[in-house]
Amino acid sequence: MYKVAVLPGDGIGPEVVSEGLKVLRTLQAQYGLDFDFQEMEINADRYLRTGKLLTDEDIEQLRAFDVIFLGAIGDDRVPPGILEKGILLRARFAFDQYINHRPAQLWKPFGRLKREVDFKIDVYRENTEDFYIGAGGRIKEGACELTLDIERELYDLSIDIEANASNTDDYAFEIGIMSKKNIERFADYVIEQTKMVGERRITVVDKANVLSNLYHMWREVWNEKGKQAGIEIQYMLVDAMSMALVKNPDKFRIVAIPNMFGDILTDMLAEVTGGLGLAPGGNINPKGLSMYEPVHGSAPKYKGMNTINPTATILAAKMLVDNMGRRDLGSKIEDAVRRTFDKGIYTQDLGGKAKTSEFGDAVVAELRKM
Ligand code: IPM
Ligand code: MN
Repeated sequence: MYKVAVLPGDGIGPEVVSEGLKVLRTLQAQYGLDFDFQEMEINADRYLRTGKLLTDEDIEQLRAFDVIFLGAIGDDRVPPGILEKGILLRARFAFDQYINHRPAQLWKPFGRLKREVDFKIDVYRENTEDFYIGAGGRIKEGACELTLDIERELYDLSIDIEANASNTDDYAFEIGIMSKKNIERFADYVIEQTKMVGERRITVVDKANVLSNLYHMWREVWNEKGKQAGIEIQYMLVDAMSMALVKNPDKFRIVAIPNMFGDILTDMLAEVTGGLGLAPGGNINPKGLSMYEPVHGSAPKYKGMNTINPTATILAAKMLVDNMGRRDLGSKIEDAVRRTFDKGIYTQDLGGKAKTSEFGDAVVAELRKM
């Protein structure tokens, strides 16, 4: 039995998750995959009702599952940062999902580039550290003393800060931190995946020319790991990389990127492939509990309208199936999406008329024919 915790979340999350589930249930019926789905309410509504984000109890309960299937987190009624940090990031850190795999392939005919080039890029975004580490604070009236505590599966880190300014202005800071052990295991995973798809080169992105403490250590690890594995490491600064991805996306195949730059570039890349509605992602712990979700957010404006494109979530379901070890069935999901597009069935964001649920039904119909 494969136990799936279903977290529809906020905004359009429930609508797109139900299309993803339709697809997974079709595979269950057709190929006997033994899924056990259990839905949990961990979202803004519960927070507003009870004050609970992702609690220790939730985390304990979730540990009993094989995988998490997530919609989206975020709601206009709650100030930015509370749900995102309290639920989504908390889950990524608590389950030590140190890799965020975001594949980006061109979906013809939706590509946004003037010149249509075919490309498929696997972006691996580091997912637990960097400027997402959560070590920040405010210095009020020019002085403060505080202790920053960081807890991760790999370590506990405590940093004492004492600040004294020459004036009484207020200051704020956010520290970027990476640990060598985490970069090492992240690099190992990316290299393993690179070899698995028969590639020999990884493009490693950073801003080592300015943030040189952080990203020199990051490069030391990549230099070493690349050499050991016989893999070519091509470094790109993130500003140049953002240009290059728009200009020549076909020049890249495997990209490794720190957390914050990865957040930004994967949205941009999703747009280049045809839009955020097409981009799935997996928060991966290779030996633990992984969590699959669309790259897009909760888009509260469109909640309940049945107009949103569920492809990103359907492709997240595909990644979930791949990672069960059933790549044969994962690729059937992708083929079914492709065939649905080939029939001219598009949601509004892609210039069509299909409703969210109609698109899901069409994908299921294709799957049933296979
Ligand atoms: C993403 C999202 C999250 C992130 C937010 C909601 C915390 O933008 O998954 O890309 O920044 O990682
Ligand atoms: Mn993002």
